[in-house]
Amino acid sequence: MSSYVPPTVVINIFAVIGVIAALNKILRVLWSILKNVKTFILARPLGLATDPKRHGKWAVVTGATDGIGKAYAEQLAAKGLNIYLLSRSPDKLKDVATQIEQRYKVETKTFAVDFTGGGDIYPSIGDQLTGLDIGVLVNNVGMSYSFPQYFCELADAEKFLPNIININCLSVVMMTNLVLPGMVERKRGIIINVSSASGMNPSPMLTVYSATKVFVDFFSRGLDVEYRSKGIQVQSVMPFYVTTKLSKLRRETMTIPSPTSYVKTALATLGSGNRTNGCLMHNLQGWVVGSVPDWLLDSVQMSIHSAIRKVSLKRLAEKKTK
Ligand SMILES: NC(=O)c1ccc[n+]([C@@H]2O[C@H](COP(=O)([O-])OP(=O)(O)OC[C@H]3O[C@@H](n4cnc5c(N)ncnc54)[C@H](OP(=O)(O)O)[C@@H]3O)[C@@H](O)[C@H]2O)c1
Repeated sequence: MSSYVPPTVVINIFAVIGVIAALNKILRVLWSILKNVKTFILARPLGLATDPKRHGKWAVVTGATDGIGKAYAEQLAAKGLNIYLLSRSPDKLKDVATQIEQRYKVETKTFAVDFTGGGDIYPSIGDQLTGLDIGVLVNNVGMSYSFPQYFCELADAEKFLPNIININCLSVVMMTNLVLPGMVERKRGIIINVSSASGMNPSPMLTVYSATKVFVDFFSRGLDVEYRSKGIQVQSVMPFYVTTKLSKLRRETMTIPSPTSYVKTALATLGSGNRTNGCLMHNLQGWVVGSVPDWLLDSVQMSIHSAIRKVSLKRLAEKKTK
């Protein structure tokens, strides 16, 4: 029997594969557009987002005195939750707690703790949280490099490396360890873990930061699958730039929101998926980043970060000579 396959058949098979691949791409794009419309345009007016208040009386927020964490604390208070604020500076904690109580007429509690500490800090945090009906945990606290640098250049690396891992990774896992068992018992709860868009791809010259943030993303996604059927939602929030002290950006633009407007949209995504860049413009940036080849992204990031490093080193040198 002859095994001859006419060229027209081969061409037709490739044509069908091509059409299926193109349809798959088009359907994915359409699905993503519909999801974004539902999440960022319809969710708030139609009340589609999860109401955090239905999950418990208290929200616990780490890094709650500034930036994104403060915005979560305020906006969860605006939804009627009592807020447990955890951060480093006692004075700032007192100020923010007082503002929240006066403005939103909810209860607050505070605990001053340095999350760069290792495992030893968690028993005392656990003592503080015992007995509270915690509906929401926002694992927000985090630190980054002071500017992009080569790994071997990092100043005071023996201190900096454990610190960044403790604050960005250990705190997320240990706070979850304190709060999740109660949520499971009550069969309700929301855990919001603030990762970063730097966790979507390696970020050269911010390599350790980016690696800690992919840890947070994977931890959140795995945990969400484990506990979804038990009434718990775990969300990984991956912002691009937001105007905070950490980003050192002050001026709001279309792509760089303030913490308040960022968290407003990020909270509206609750219930629409376990992984988000948090606002429409950041989701769009996430889509672009996910669509370009790795080599291109690596080289663009490397050249931007090299330029920032150069300027930062120059400024440091100027400061030293003054
Ligand atoms: N801003 C961005 O563009 C951006 C982008 C992607 C991801 N993120 C992530 O978003 C999260 C929040 O960042 P942010 O920009 O809002 O930061 P931020 O404005 O610098 O605020 C950080 C908060 O964390 C507290 N904090 C800092 N170090 C601490 C420590 N060692 N122990 C306890 N509390 C500490 C600060 O309290 P004190 O004031 O008392 O120090 C403050 O309340 C981080 O996980 C960050 O990685 C931010």
